[in-house]
Amino acid sequence: MRLKDIQDIFHKELDAIYGREEVDAFFYLLIESYFNVPRFHLALHPELSITKEEQTPIFNALHELKQEKPIQYIIGATEFYGLNFKVNPNVLIPRPETEELVDLILKNYKATEHLKILDVGTGSGCIAVALGKQINNAEVFAVDISGEAIKIAKENALANGVNVSFVNTDILDVNKRNSWFAGITFDIIVSNPPYVRELEKKEMKANVLNNEPETALFVDDSNPLVFYDAICEFAINKLNTNGQLYFEINQYLGPEMKALVDNYHFNDVRLKKDLAGNDRFVYGRFPN
Ligand SMILES: C[S@@+](CC[C@H](N)C(=O)[O-])C[C@H]1O[C@@H](n2cnc3c(N)ncnc32)[C@H](O)[C@@H]1O
Repeated sequence: MRLKDIQDIFHKELDAIYGREEVDAFFYLLIESYFNVPRFHLALHPELSITKEEQTPIFNALHELKQEKPIQYIIGATEFYGLNFKVNPNVLIPRPETEELVDLILKNYKATEHLKILDVGTGSGCIAVALGKQINNAEVFAVDISGEAIKIAKENALANGVNVSFVNTDILDVNKRNSWFAGITFDIIVSNPPYVRELEKKEMKANVLNNEPETALFVDDSNPLVFYDAICEFAINKLNTNGQLYFEINQYLGPEMKALVDNYHFNDVRLKKDLAGNDRFVYGRFPN
């Protein structure tokens, strides 16, 4: 069957859900991922065909797209900060805002001989791996409560040639976090923890709600800053002098987040918007 004919079927079945342009984007990603056929190659060879056997994965993908499964989970990969990351439904799909967070850290950090970085709630490992790739000689640690996430993150670190020490523990458990990190202090602690309140579920897209891991996303309405509070508490004991703390945050809780970090007596605490204009990052330095 010609790939062009399959593309027509994709349009017929999916345009109503996603729109023509996005369906083309999905289709080209899939043929590149499954058959190693880049978009321009199909334009130059419109008669390009695949065998009946080869059709199975692409029609399976069509079925999954109809059910609004994210394309990244279908092909099992995504790009973050110019690097390839394996993803599956045990990890959050890295978001563009989080690339902005990495960018912010890279612009602000001061190179020292043995820079130690900790990423809390690492998921796919995107933040830890991207920072490790960009900062020479950094010693990178990453923690997550999900063993399945740690498995993927380890693969991503290896595939991208970055050395990360992964810890599978619960950052909310004071005893566990203190015993795992006994005797270690950090220059940078960064986290994009779960921050979506249950009450915000109704404004979320079905493809996120039905596919991405709940433990990566949600916090209780009654205590939405629980992770930030715990991480600040941990950070004041674990940051070196002038160490930096970086958070990605819930856009609706910017002022509350800044107040929380101020209350822990960090210096130069800033609330920063993302490129979409939403409050998205809070960061500060640990006082002398
Ligand atoms: C919003 S996701 C962020 C994933 C990744 N850092 C990113 O930016 O794409 C939050 C992560 O925190 C992890 N997590 C949730 N509760 C945790 C806990 N109590 N201790 C450690 N990690 C936790 C989840 O498994 C998930 O991987």
